[in-house]
Amino acid sequence: MFQPDTDSTNRTSALSATELFKIKDVRIGDYTMKAWFVAPYPEEYTQQPQLYICEFCFKYMASDYIAGRHKLKCAMKHPPGDEIYREGAISIFEVDGRKNKATDDVPYHNQMYCQNLCLIAKMFLDHKTLYYDVEPFLFYIMTEVDEDGCHFVGYFSKEKCSAMNYNVSCILTLPCYQRKGYGQYLIDFSYLLTKREGKTGTPERPLSDLGLLSYRSYWRSVLFRELRKVDEATSVEELSARTSLTPDDIIACLQLNDMLFKDKITGRYQIDIHDQTLEEHAKKMAQKNYIQIVPEKLTWTPFVLSKERLASITGEATHQVK
Ligand code: ACO
Ligand code: ZN
Repeated sequence: MFQPDTDSTNRTSALSATELFKIKDVRIGDYTMKAWFVAPYPEEYTQQPQLYICEFCFKYMASDYIAGRHKLKCAMKHPPGDEIYREGAISIFEVDGRKNKATDDVPYHNQMYCQNLCLIAKMFLDHKTLYYDVEPFLFYIMTEVDEDGCHFVGYFSKEKCSAMNYNVSCILTLPCYQRKGYGQYLIDFSYLLTKREGKTGTPERPLSDLGLLSYRSYWRSVLFRELRKVDEATSVEELSARTSLTPDDIIACLQLNDMLFKDKITGRYQIDIHDQTLEEHAKKMAQKNYIQIVPEKLTWTPFVLSKERLASITGEATHQVK
């Protein structure tokens, strides 16, 4: 299992003794993981050595006994919201952070589910602070399906309306599922949504260390794949239209991989394709044999906000004063 990097260990050691006391193991479904960072769970849940979380509804509990009893009666076997993607054992749900009414079918409020999810994310992410104000976000929950239900693997959140073109606000793969390609899968899925919206997108900054590594790896793979299909005359704009990556992210990635230079006379960027690098990379990726998104399996239409809802989220008035 992945342990916190040196950077996060340093951050942990800088915490006060009381805060250190709150760092504990967390059990979600069949997996027990070390919490990397402090999450603001209520005091009474932070006094035992382990926190228990229901893998379906994300209810948090203080003891094995309570978690066992909850498991017997928990009615949720999949996330609330709409299943918008299913391919093989992978199923992805879209959950609106806005408060909804619990029904017989889904006896749970989306809002509470999303708040509890943000608390889980906080245990593995140091610099994000969203826990309670989940209404402006949509949550995309990736699960692995078997006869027991849809097991939570990871998620990303996305602003319903992003002035900065962000297509991901927060992304997480549970540590027990990390380094298996699920992060790339989630990132690819976020760009698939952006493509369907007819836009380009980029993740919210700042990225964590692991976020930066994962995005750099994803951008390289996607751009190298496209560069194998096109000729040298391609442009950053064309690559952006094909991939939904922003021109800035494309430029940064190509520069990092020595495949872009600026013509000193014209000032224009020129792409310099290294065929051998592309082939070697393609071979390496094929060996990894990571699961791939099948775009045709997405059944989704972009989220549209009503004027009133948009105003309530952004805090602007809907009616003009005459
Ligand atoms: N060490 C070195 N490289 C890594 C590591 C690591 N620990 N983790 C990911 N990478 C790089 C590698 O190149 C890796 O490919 P490889 O395993 O084939 O070499 C690539 O990123 C992608 O790995 P995945 O298996 O697809 O990604 P994973 O499922 O592990 O999820 C994620 C990546 C989501 C960033 C995960 O590490 C995580 O949840 N971290 C904690 C939360 C976090 O930091 N989220 C990002 C915050 S930024 C934001 O939210 C916009
Ligand atoms: Zn439950």
